Amino acid sequence: MPDAPALGPINLIADRASAGDFEKKHTPYIEVERHEDGTITATVTVGWDVPHPNQPDHYITWIEIHADGAPVARFDFVPVVSWPTVSVKLSLDPGTTLRAVEHCNLHGLWASEIVV
Ligand SMILES: [Fe+2]
Repeated sequence: MPDAPALGPINLIADRASAGDFEKKHTPYIEVERHEDGTITATVTVGWDVPHPNQPDHYITWIEIHADGAPVARFDFVPVVSWPTVSVKLSLDPGTTLRAVEHCNLHGLWASEIVV
């Protein structure tokens, strides 16, 4: 059985620098702030490079954050009112792969990863 999600394949852009505007406006951008207590705050923005529409017929429906493949946070949005920028504080082991996945109602699943 394939492990592709029911919503379709995930577009994972490895090289942001060579991505076009369509890829840039969908790929989640992950920023990490480290704290003295060993925790981090991960901020995920969709449309960081190129703005993504936020209209009733075209918007980001949700963002999930996974740590080494396990879901650790999920945010659901409504168009116009809520915008796809979220922050969450996490306690993770060094070397953990953080993946952000977003769903656009028209263009499917998009992801990016960083090692924290
Ligand atoms: Fe889209």
